[in-house]
Amino acid sequence: MAHLQSLNIIQPSLSIQSKSYKRLPFKPHNAKISSCLVSDVNPKTITATNSASVSPASKELMDADKNVMVGTYARTPVVLERGIGCKVFDVDGKEYLDMTSGIAVNALGHCDPDWVKAVVDQASTLTHVSNVYYSVPQVKLAQRLIECSFADRVFFSNSGTEANEAAIKFSRKYQRHTHPNSTDPPTEFIAFVNCFHGRTIGSLSLTSKQQYRVHFKPLMPGGDIFVEYGNVAEVARLVKERSVAAVFVEPLQGEGGIHCATKEFLSGLRSVCDEAGALLVFDEVQCGLGRTGHLWAHEAYGVYPDMMTLAKPLAGGLPIGVVLTTEKVSSAINPGDHGSTFAGSPMVCNAALTVLNKINTPTFLSDVAKKGNYLKELLAKKMKGNKHVKEIRGMGLIVGIELDMPAAGLVDACRENGVLVLTAGGGDVVRLVPPLVISMEELEFGAEVIRKCLEAL
Ligand SMILES: Cc1ncc(COP(=O)(O)O)c(C=O)c1O
Repeated sequence: MAHLQSLNIIQPSLSIQSKSYKRLPFKPHNAKISSCLVSDVNPKTITATNSASVSPASKELMDADKNVMVGTYARTPVVLERGIGCKVFDVDGKEYLDMTSGIAVNALGHCDPDWVKAVVDQASTLTHVSNVYYSVPQVKLAQRLIECSFADRVFFSNSGTEANEAAIKFSRKYQRHTHPNSTDPPTEFIAFVNCFHGRTIGSLSLTSKQQYRVHFKPLMPGGDIFVEYGNVAEVARLVKERSVAAVFVEPLQGEGGIHCATKEFLSGLRSVCDEAGALLVFDEVQCGLGRTGHLWAHEAYGVYPDMMTLAKPLAGGLPIGVVLTTEKVSSAINPGDHGSTFAGSPMVCNAALTVLNKINTPTFLSDVAKKGNYLKELLAKKMKGNKHVKEIRGMGLIVGIELDMPAAGLVDACRENGVLVLTAGGGDVVRLVPPLVISMEELEFGAEVIRKCLEAL
């Protein structure tokens, strides 16, 4: 690691309203800490947390966690306590610029006052009733989602993976419905290399990464066909050969490494599906709802699906998942075909209405696009000539920096210097998914820390 002198970095101030800044000395990364926010990482490669850089309060909590939690997460050694705007603070009061948004969830940042009001008002009125009964926020949210999308109908779930499970079931039911005389209607699915659709068995069956799948076989029959992202000809060949109920695709792959589709790819899939009678499902769990500078990522391509799944940002941090569908698909679904106890609760839907209304304005969306371009330009300028940077890519405020080495060291160095970022792909991509409300000043700060940390590696 290169030796670094102490450098001054402008750190955004504690209060989002305040214009004052404090200066923190730049800290070269301590190589003993190696961790990753997402589970692309092989836990065996994670070295022990360096006690020198973790406070006693944090260490105590981390040790307690280790004793009680099932070990599904390769966590980063930070105990977060509170957040405001685009900043979060750990239990020792250390401030971080959050360029992760809880993995593309907190689109309005932390503790947005309108979101807090929506949650508190609804929590003190009616929180949960189950889907045995009607409730006003659920219907209002469904109406708003339909008004601003291709869809005619809405199904609520509680997470991205559950939204995809529902879309899988709806696809099979649709095929059964449209092949009434067949004993063997289409039940197979095509998905793409580097895709991520979730971790429950159905969604996992459509998720390509071997390390997520291998220990859980047998997975869902009909869910093991992965085509290279962009290869329409191969999809066309497969739909003729196989019995395909639906094609699942992310218009922009997030976990897979920030890969944008092309118009030719998505419109090619649309034509192939239409010809074969297969459904086209867009998974916008990560890239939807303003993240790309478009309300829906597919609007950038002018290609429309039969179903779209949403989740992460919609309820501003509360659990939600949604399937948006056309009438054509929805007409195949009957009472009892699917359901959920918690989904579409008044409190979650009231929060989601606020998030949707705030994001779905021309000014908000064009600001995201402008900020995304600014971030990519900044990174390109600051990292020009750095031999480790292979590519900077993305759309709006979902940006990837592909390196020629594992990104975990850079992620750790950024964290030590007050900026939280994620990895993606095979662990060689730094993923930036800040709150959509991030300021230009905060983007400048984040990009500068990334530059300095990268130079120090
Ligand atoms: C595109 C996509 N689909 C589905 C999921 C699964 O969502 P969840 O973790 O809410 O189940 C994710 C999560 O990262 C995702 O990025």
